[in-house]
Amino acid sequence: PEPALFGNALINWYRQHKRPLPWRETRDPYAIWLSEVILQQTRVNQGLPYYQTFLSNYPTIKDLAQATEDEVLRHWQGLGYYSRARNMHHTAKYISFELDGKFPGTYAELLKLKGIGPYTAAAIASFAFKEPVAVLDGNVFRVLARVYGLADDISSPAGKKAFQLLADSLIYRAEPDTYNQAIMEFGAIQCTPVMPDCLFCPLQQTCFAFLNGLVAALPHKSKA
Ligand code: ADE
Ligand code: SF4
Repeated sequence: PEPALFGNALINWYRQHKRPLPWRETRDPYAIWLSEVILQQTRVNQGLPYYQTFLSNYPTIKDLAQATEDEVLRHWQGLGYYSRARNMHHTAKYISFELDGKFPGTYAELLKLKGIGPYTAAAIASFAFKEPVAVLDGNVFRVLARVYGLADDISSPAGKKAFQLLADSLIYRAEPDTYNQAIMEFGAIQCTPVMPDCLFCPLQQTCFAFLNGLVAALPHKSKA
């Protein structure tokens, strides 16, 4: 499908089907950052209570910056991946004390921060600052591979690059934040890894994989 149609279809679908999640109701980059770090390692339903509790313990980035590492790690207990909590604490101190509390507001600046990679930088830049940068995660790979018939191997760097190019060409500039949430939610709920709901899918008539019987074959992954 043509980019504008694709974006419109996803956003329409999203408005009807999205789960109400607290990090979608905020534009606070700190809260969005926290949600993305938690969701990188935990399912939404499991991560939700940790997000709420952590935010009530540390409502602002300054509160996090002023805590000791031991205390932060204690509040991270149960989530695992403690290096992520350490990196987050480190970066919270950096922003609070070296950048005078001013949260970096662009994808390029966010990418320089310790613990923030391309996915998280794109998520914060688009959700908090409406910068038109495309998020790429497992859900996005799958949706793009199927809808556009992109057969590149998502486990290779060259393959990832091909997906990045396609994703960047599709970003919905009027509402990059809603678009990014929509494509991830679509992959999580509609265009799922196993048994996607093709029968009731708004993209069915333009989906390459559906039209060509390749839904189960895409995305192509050489490594597990
Ligand atoms: N997984 C990663 N980021 C997410 C988000 N913003 N909403 C729901 N699930 C997610
Ligand atoms: Fe995914 Fe099926 Fe919809 Fe294609 S038709 S986008 S494979 S759910």
